[in-house]
Amino acid sequence: MVESTRIVLASRPVGAPTPADFRFETTELPPLEDGQVLLRTLYLSLDPYMRGRMSDAESYAKPVELGQVMVGATVAEVLDSRDSGFAKGDVVLAYSGWQSAAVASGSSLRKLDPDKAPISTALGVLGMPGFTAYSGLLQIGQPQEGETLVVAAATGPVGATVGQLAKIKGARAIGIAGGPKKCAALRDELGFDVALDHRAPDFADQLRAAVPDGIDIYFENVGGHVADAVYPLLNTYARVPVCGMIANYNASGKPAGPDRFPSFYGRILTKSLTIRGFIQTEFVRELYPDFLREVSGWIAEGRIRYLEDVVEGLDNAPEAFIGLLEGRNFGKLVVKVAD
Ligand SMILES: NC(=O)c1ccc[n+]([C@@H]2O[C@H](COP(=O)([O-])OP(=O)(O)OC[C@H]3O[C@@H](n4cnc5c(N)ncnc54)[C@H](OP(=O)(O)O)[C@@H]3O)[C@@H](O)[C@H]2O)c1
Repeated sequence: MVESTRIVLASRPVGAPTPADFRFETTELPPLEDGQVLLRTLYLSLDPYMRGRMSDAESYAKPVELGQVMVGATVAEVLDSRDSGFAKGDVVLAYSGWQSAAVASGSSLRKLDPDKAPISTALGVLGMPGFTAYSGLLQIGQPQEGETLVVAAATGPVGATVGQLAKIKGARAIGIAGGPKKCAALRDELGFDVALDHRAPDFADQLRAAVPDGIDIYFENVGGHVADAVYPLLNTYARVPVCGMIANYNASGKPAGPDRFPSFYGRILTKSLTIRGFIQTEFVRELYPDFLREVSGWIAEGRIRYLEDVVEGLDNAPEAFIGLLEGRNFGKLVVKVAD
């Protein structure tokens, strides 16, 4: 018998989640059936979408039920296998959630090659967030040589990859992040042309000054006051891949201020804007192999870099997740669960 420590959803948060919304449990895992694999979690990915899963509001995916293990992608080691495709010692990408060990069906796993890339990157730049950037930017944003792109949450795995892909395609990349340290990393480590701190009191003026030719692509990760500053600067025929709205994820009421809807629609009309929401899964079948090949190549050439924020220990997952929604992470947030 193998024991697993797991973190379940204890209550649905109203506003920002608190540690009391999570509960730790210990459980014994059942014996393996044919086609199943026993996994020991090495890394757990923490991602903004998990806030949506804690809520029972209507969404594109089902919520986590109260008492259920919090969902999440993991990198795990195979401890035992009754699937001929996997052997003890293999390292796999799984979706086994916030727990130290799990039984999973072999068909839900993808084998990783630890010699090709650090295994944690399968949760970030070479995983779902990197693919979100690649598919959303190239399919919807369609950056052209000489255009100007703006993206916020720009040190995170989606934003950082969006900015660097835009540069590879010949566009100018303006990154927005919270605080001077993140802005320095945008310029010095990730190669953005301009880095702006959205917490600066004159942020909207700084943004206007940074885009003398207007904005051709706004990769929407955050919404809120960043979007308010960006929209008046969009050029005719600008594209807005709507990827996320993290500024709203903890909201429990309507946003403050006037009704923005009429002016928003007016701008779409008069500027011929393309505003297109997407969930990355819609592009997986068509684009995933291209993504892995191209982005792995660009990482190997040093043209795409990534930042990781590694938190030690499953015990610290709830606090780290709460921090993600407040901008306390610095790069792709992963929990190192075991060596
Ligand atoms: N559509 C899809 O299929 C899909 C898939 C993956 C991710 N996403 C979305 O992509 C976005 C980025 O995800 P990620 O994994 O790369 O996250 P991330 O950047 O690692 O973390 C979230 C960041 O959002 C910023 N943030 C938080 N509250 C904010 C606020 N009120 N205003 C402005 N910025 C705020 C913080 O950065 P700063 O400190 O720099 O502000 C925080 O570090 C999220 O909206 C996520 O939901 C969508």
